Amino acid sequence: MKRLQIAFAAATVALLYLSARGLNNTLYMPVIEKTPFGKTTSGEAVDLYTLKNASNARVQIMTYGGTVVSLQVPDRDGMLGDIVLGYDVLDGYLKNSPYFGSIVGRYGNRIGKGRFSLDGKQYQLPKNNGENTLHGGIKGFDKVVWKATEDRSTDGAALSLTYLSKDGEEGFPGNLSVKVVYTLINNNELRIEYSAATDKTTVVNLTHHSYFNLAGEGNILQHELMINAEQFTPVDAGLIPTGELRNVKGTPMDFTKPTAIGARIDQQDEQLILGKGYDHNWVLKNNAGKLSLAARVYEPRSGRVMEVSTTEPGLQFYSGNFLDGSITGKGGQVYQQRSGFCLETQHFPDSPNKPRFPSTVLKPGQQYTSTTIYKFSAQK
Ligand code: GLA
Repeated sequence: MKRLQIAFAAATVALLYLSARGLNNTLYMPVIEKTPFGKTTSGEAVDLYTLKNASNARVQIMTYGGTVVSLQVPDRDGMLGDIVLGYDVLDGYLKNSPYFGSIVGRYGNRIGKGRFSLDGKQYQLPKNNGENTLHGGIKGFDKVVWKATEDRSTDGAALSLTYLSKDGEEGFPGNLSVKVVYTLINNNELRIEYSAATDKTTVVNLTHHSYFNLAGEGNILQHELMINAEQFTPVDAGLIPTGELRNVKGTPMDFTKPTAIGARIDQQDEQLILGKGYDHNWVLKNNAGKLSLAARVYEPRSGRVMEVSTTEPGLQFYSGNFLDGSITGKGGQVYQQRSGFCLETQHFPDSPNKPRFPSTVLKPGQQYTSTTIYKFSAQK
């Protein structure tokens, strides 16, 4: 009788264990929910997708701009917090968004004087940033509605977004068909896979523009940042690279060891003055094309950690310098200068005019691919 009781107890424990595991892993089905999120000014419907993973993290992505609207990950006590800046409703994004959470293209970052030549032909883009073109022009990929399809892989919940950028759109040559797949992997990685193909020679540089604040509020000056780079591309007054690759050693651009973002940001340094803080491209130490660690950020109050890996050769670290208190975002938060920071994986700014920078040219028959992973964890 006793044996039977023991066997029964053991079976119960085993069953409980297996079902708990099952809930978390084997039997876990990633969740994707779709809800209407409003309409653009021209009447196009916008949807909001919520992806949840087995560790209870969640990301909300809308079809307007392929924008990450919220991203909730646990702190060191397991408490979820939204760690990206933005708005609660679509209207804010339509009216005034400094690229909050969006996909940026066709050419992320700046092209000097908005012009470049390809195959002996000159192209002039609309200028939307002083003398230069920034983030794809007046109506870049952040301001269009993407087509979405849901995908539940064993990795986690995925959302595929596609967009056809027509020949001549914002001055760029070639019909460019673009696909971006966001996957919320069960170990709290947000993976972004970009691909594109063209029917005429063109330039492509896609990136993602979330403003992170791993504490979920306040400024980002205490965040400790490591960037896996020994060089950066110094800029001129219009934030266009001069073409030089400069060593970070002995400058406030040296993040080879984890350093608080605020530690040197107010130094009287020529580059920091030009950028109004950090707004520069770092030359990553990776082997071009291979996924490798670009940056690591630790926020001491929450314990949250973000690791960025990418196949890209560059990383724009932007310390939210142009936020000035004029935007009231989610939950009534007023976004002041340095309320959030961006880590934009990319090819270098103005590459179409800098023959010595890694090329951003895409030809018919070639496939553009790029992968970036933002991985979240917490540290005691
Ligand atoms: C990028 C640029 C910045 C700024 C922001 C958006 O990070 O490098 O200069 O334009 O986008 O405000």
